[in-house]
Amino acid sequence: MSTETTKPKKKMSSTKARLWLDLVFFVVMVLVLAPQGTGIPIHEWISFLVLIPFFLHLIFDWKWIVNVTKRIFSRIPGETRFNYVLDWLLFFLFIVAMFSGVVISEAALPAMGIHMTIDPFWVQIHDMSSNLMIVVLGIHLAMHWKWIVTNFKKYVLRRPTRAAAQSGD
Ligand code: HEM
Repeated sequence: MSTETTKPKKKMSSTKARLWLDLVFFVVMVLVLAPQGTGIPIHEWISFLVLIPFFLHLIFDWKWIVNVTKRIFSRIPGETRFNYVLDWLLFFLFIVAMFSGVVISEAALPAMGIHMTIDPFWVQIHDMSSNLMIVVLGIHLAMHWKWIVTNFKKYVLRRPTRAAAQSGD
């Protein structure tokens, strides 16, 4: 097999892996964000589970994060700068929602033998951070909508797009 035939294959599998990871991440996040539907115990356990796709998502984008961090005070496209700030906000909200969630845990922590008095302050922080996260997550998805639609059509619906064909993905 020549290198010309193996190179595009590698690229394809990494985009495909990212897409599937992001789809799983999205579905689990929808469940996490709907405790009224799942009930609090399931909400708490899947919130811990969502840490796996969360960190994998960051690892996949690690190069971009490092590159943009280095160049943030130089001339970079406005869209990149916007995404960078938005992504930090999303990261911050995720951490706050996780932390406040643990502090107000009604099921997972008691099941592990940890009992804490629930402080209404942290309940409020949890509600606010998670509700704001829905908005920021929506903007984050909108900013990457083209990538999502192109690759969803290609890898899930298996409909090759012109853009993907040109890029050799
Ligand atoms: C990124 C992680 C998380 C997100 C996005 C999230 C999101 C939410 C949302 C949207 C609600 C409903 C808020 C409302 O009624 O306005 C909620 C409630 C709740 N969450 Fe989470 N959550 C997360 C992590 C956790 C964790 C790790 C725990 C505990 C281990 C937890 C425990 C709870 C509890 C006990 C409630 C009910 C609070 C109340 O009485 O209003 N959450 N969460």
